[in-house]
Amino acid sequence: MNFTEIERLEEQFQVATYAKMNIAVERGCGAWIWTSDGEKYLDLYGGHAVCATGHSHPHIVKAIQEQAEKVLFYSNLVYSEIRAKAAEKLVSVAPESLTKAFFCNSGTEANENAMRMARFATKREKVITFSGGFHGRSADSISATFLGNYRNLGKPNVPGHVCAEFGNLESVRELADNETAAIMLEPIQSMAGVTESSPDFFKGLREICDEHGIILIFDEVQTGIGRTGNWFFSGSDLAGNIEADIITLAKSLGSGVPVGACLVNEKVSANIKTNDLGTTFGGGMLAMAAVLATLEAIENDKMRENIAEIESYLRERLKEIEQIAAVHGKGGLIGIEFSENCKSVHQKLLENKIITGTSSNPKVLRLLPPLCVTKGEIDLLISALQKAV
Ligand SMILES: Cc1ncc(COP(=O)(O)O)c(C=O)c1O
Repeated sequence: MNFTEIERLEEQFQVATYAKMNIAVERGCGAWIWTSDGEKYLDLYGGHAVCATGHSHPHIVKAIQEQAEKVLFYSNLVYSEIRAKAAEKLVSVAPESLTKAFFCNSGTEANENAMRMARFATKREKVITFSGGFHGRSADSISATFLGNYRNLGKPNVPGHVCAEFGNLESVRELADNETAAIMLEPIQSMAGVTESSPDFFKGLREICDEHGIILIFDEVQTGIGRTGNWFFSGSDLAGNIEADIITLAKSLGSGVPVGACLVNEKVSANIKTNDLGTTFGGGMLAMAAVLATLEAIENDKMRENIAEIESYLRERLKEIEQIAAVHGKGGLIGIEFSENCKSVHQKLLENKIITGTSSNPKVLRLLPPLCVTKGEIDLLISALQKAV
């Protein structure tokens, strides 16, 4: 089918809820995708922060092909070798205190379950989240999202959500008390425009949580699975080496096969009994094969080391463009801040067949490339940027 036919069918038979680029993706490889019209695009948005291992990485394709031939799915009513291996591998790369995984299907679901576990563990209801944070669109997660207008889309909101200012410990101290179940945050606020905070902020949050018996949740749906060059933000020097009680994951975790997870410490898991949490599809075999193969591919191909090197190279080369006011973020989660609105830069890059992301800050262009992106591919971005500005 050509693009016009595909577009007509999608528009006719799908609810009109997404603003789309005028391309139809047919296949992908590494940091590249090919369209229905035979055009080739450099994907520095990584399929919406999902394809950290690159598009259709052969190790992952093989793993899910082999699993599909054995059995596609059975729920948690049965044990499964591939689930056992995926859980073991995920916990093995997690910060030391996080010893168990709960599998679900998406980022919003991981956050809902994390908040529920925090409420079980503390027997309290209040949750503190932050201005500029995004946590998903289901009821509890959207109620925890104080970015833009999202919360209003989720009316009526779940009660018990309050908002502190990201980076401001005093604002957290004013809200944190012995009725607070959880403090939840994106450690780098991606959608807000790749907003960062200092290691001291994270250390301060850990202290406040310890003082009041509050569960600290890091929403690592974007920062997890190698994105910053560390397996996770939690426990890394970016976080002042403190560890969250729960990390939530999705996006890159299955390289495109839908899967989410919560990684939890003993304090949290000790309070969960049979039937407290559940989901039909969580831990399904196809998703588990994708999780295991994703972690193996990142490790085998040294992608975390690669993205750390790419970040330094990219930062160096971006200095050549004087219209850039600042560069935010870490590893493969980068916000390029321009001195003015960068909508036209985003559009011109797309016309030059380079996909990047926007953010809710009109001056910030977001990059979330596959972790296997090369210096040569970064050079293509720099040349296109020089023309676009
Ligand atoms: C930080 C963060 N948390 C949660 C979510 C929600 O994930 P999902 O769309 O898989 O529900 C997103 C999605 O963009 C996200 O970026």
